[in-house]
Amino acid sequence: KKVMLSGIQPSGDLHLGNYLGAIKNWGARAEEFDCYYFMADMHTITVRQTPADLRRRTLTQLAQYIACGLDPEKNTLFIQSHIPAHAELGWVLNCYTMFGELSRMTQFKDKSAKHADNINGGLFTYPALMAADILLYQPDFVPVGNDQKQHVELTRNVAQRFNNIYGDVFKVPEPYIPKTGARIMSLNAPDSKMSKSIPEGCVFLMEKPEDIQRKFKRAITDSDTERCVRFDPENKPGVSNLMSIYSAVTGKTMEEIEAEFDGQGYGAFKPAVGEAVIECLRPIREETERILKDKAYLESVYKAGAEKASYVANKTLRKVYKKVGFVAK
Ligand code: TYM
Repeated sequence: KKVMLSGIQPSGDLHLGNYLGAIKNWGARAEEFDCYYFMADMHTITVRQTPADLRRRTLTQLAQYIACGLDPEKNTLFIQSHIPAHAELGWVLNCYTMFGELSRMTQFKDKSAKHADNINGGLFTYPALMAADILLYQPDFVPVGNDQKQHVELTRNVAQRFNNIYGDVFKVPEPYIPKTGARIMSLNAPDSKMSKSIPEGCVFLMEKPEDIQRKFKRAITDSDTERCVRFDPENKPGVSNLMSIYSAVTGKTMEEIEAEFDGQGYGAFKPAVGEAVIECLRPIREETERILKDKAYLESVYKAGAEKASYVANKTLRKVYKKVGFVAK
């Protein structure tokens, strides 16, 4: 079986961008792939976190993974910090990742601009830890949204560099990016990607339906004069973003959507998108709330996940330690 792996930082509540760009694409693929999905808690402390919130969000995120259809019997679901091999391989890969490469990462540039008072070493070297997260499990595919593509490319370069020196140690993974939903934009600022840092333009998975609908009704459409629903990301970024969301949640093509709203203004279109999103998220929210009540179940899931993940991760780590010349314990 081919292997798939991905993770999300529990640095904020999960939003529609995370769902459509990543989790939806992880999907119920466990029959086809060996799947590893984790909470990237170690990455979140590159930015200051409130400890109690981080703990709560990590467990909520696990419940949401399950609610999104990732059956823990068939997928390995784990918490990154439970597997010491991530930090250990992360250190090794730091020594095979170049300063120049890290300096080119756009996420570093964005985050260091946003958190100018805390540009710490971890924020800079974070992609080496992400490379470790990935390479430990020898995945074929890494399903992520567009903004993580650069980090997966860096991971490929680091893996190839290491393999060139030591022989075939790592599988060189491919990014696996969805056709629609790979880059969901903010509802009230269609030139920025949807993210928790602009809450008014961001739809959270656990949000109340009336709040979701309010955000869609207020979504920025375009100031062009034609006022018709037509896919044209260049000239109509707001409408095109709403169309991408509608397409991703309903499975309809852009042509079908254009036909559906032909002759109608944005006034009919925006609430229709809101309604479709609400219906898509409703079962996820309800199931998450149900699962969150059972703390013992969640604990059993992450413990079993850590055990399975450790086994695979440690195998890769031992190989790496041997290759670089560390004495075996
Ligand atoms: P993170 O936590 O920022 O985002 C998690 C996933 O959600 C996707 N995403 C989006 N997709 C479409 N539109 C958006 N507006 C949007 N916003 C976020 C991201 O592309 C990502 O797939 N470094 C990673 C986490 C990570 C990881 C890994 C991922 C750590 N180790 C190993 C894969 C493999 C991150 O910060 O993603």
